[in-house]
Amino acid sequence: MPVVGHAWQLMRRPMQFMSSLSEHGDLVEIRIGPTTAHVPCHPDLLRDVLANDRVYDKGGAFYERARDIAGNGLVTCPHRDHRRQRRLMQSAFQRSQLQRYAPAMRAEIDATSARWRDGAVVDSFPELFGMALRTVARTLYSVPVDEAVVRKVEHAYEEVLSLLFQQMFLPKVVRRLPIPSNRRYRANLDFLHTTVQGLIREYRAGDFGADHGDLLSALLSSREDDGSGLDDQEIHDQVSTIMAAGTETVAGTLTWVFYLLSQHPDVERRLYAEIDAVLGGRPLEWDDLARLELTDRIITETLRLYPPAWLFTRRVAEDVELSGVRLREGATIVFSPLAVQRHPAAYSAEADFDPDRWLPERVSPMARRAFVAFGTGARKCIGDLYARTECVIALATILSRWRVEVEPGHDIRPVTLATVYHPRKLDLRLTARTPAVVPSVSG
Ligand code: HEM
Repeated sequence: MPVVGHAWQLMRRPMQFMSSLSEHGDLVEIRIGPTTAHVPCHPDLLRDVLANDRVYDKGGAFYERARDIAGNGLVTCPHRDHRRQRRLMQSAFQRSQLQRYAPAMRAEIDATSARWRDGAVVDSFPELFGMALRTVARTLYSVPVDEAVVRKVEHAYEEVLSLLFQQMFLPKVVRRLPIPSNRRYRANLDFLHTTVQGLIREYRAGDFGADHGDLLSALLSSREDDGSGLDDQEIHDQVSTIMAAGTETVAGTLTWVFYLLSQHPDVERRLYAEIDAVLGGRPLEWDDLARLELTDRIITETLRLYPPAWLFTRRVAEDVELSGVRLREGATIVFSPLAVQRHPAAYSAEADFDPDRWLPERVSPMARRAFVAFGTGARKCIGDLYARTECVIALATILSRWRVEVEPGHDIRPVTLATVYHPRKLDLRLTARTPAVVPSVSG
């Protein structure tokens, strides 16, 4: 379309648009407003791009705006700052650390589902966003925070994340105008940065030095071999990064899981049976996670069909040739899991929801390679295990207590201009259930 180029189709029908691009070749040129961008549409080509993060560096329209929230944190920083930051952050996301965060995750998910009433109907995405934000906050910052502050932070993140894509498409001159949406965006950003600053100051003024077993302790105590760690600004940026990167994404995943289960009663039945067999009505413990295998496959398959983090950009750092196309320094690459995760070269019956395609005896190396819902290469999501752990705990905890049914009248078209891919309207009806107690093998 004149002026906006492909932006309209991209935002209105992201899945159809992105997954149709591969019909035009492995590297496809699109136009978003005044910007021409190249989209790798073959899984192997996308992997080549993401493996070379020096040449295809963070930058471009998405990451320029993401810096408003995340500063120069791990997700937004350029290649030159990345390896040091990643080394300093990695230990906070290891499996052994996750085991320490898991009780806080479960406690927050328990608290959310304990507020529900039998027969109640909840609006899926906002409800699960609130749960995910409080969960990240509790694993990050185990010190109790005033409820009113939590609610304000929740609101501010909602506002900022819902305006980010709009800001990304606006030219600089328009972004600076004192129009209401710009003012809201700025005011909420300012509030978030001031609050994060205050929370870190308070945490440090407390008994810093003691290991609280939370993510912030892990970040504050992480050291390089030369004894240096993350400075104050870096800690601030990492906290903002984690709060933004780890909330809407998780809420989007869980929302799509509930939608897909409603469309596939056979899978839903097997899922309830697995949860009842593993938990038998008792609260979930760390060792249960390894036995919730179908639950995990359902999450992977949902992330393949409906990846919530769906649009990223890269800036080409030097002249380079990609798939026979000459790209100049400064050129924009757009990448989307949607462009490759339904590629027929990687998946048979690619549009079908089939969690068992991830069974070890069925999954092919190509299917694994084409799965990029968490990215790949050096810039792969540091929170992938965190997110999977949280999603499995959430599903198992919620479904062991509640029968969750999608209300009629849902609308799964994505919210236009939302940063995270999620349905416009998906209401869930909650009915209290008594889990079937499955007798143990020993009787
Ligand atoms: C289902 C949930 C999630 C999805 C789908 C997701 C997706 C992604 C993707 C695709 C990337 C790569 C972006 C790129 O290459 O440009 C990424 C990076 C990142 N994610 Fe996640 N993410 C999720 C959850 C989380 C959580 C829970 C956290 C933290 C608690 C987190 C923190 C990060 C960070 C810090 C990076 C940057 C890593 C680096 O550049 O070294 N994410 N995520």
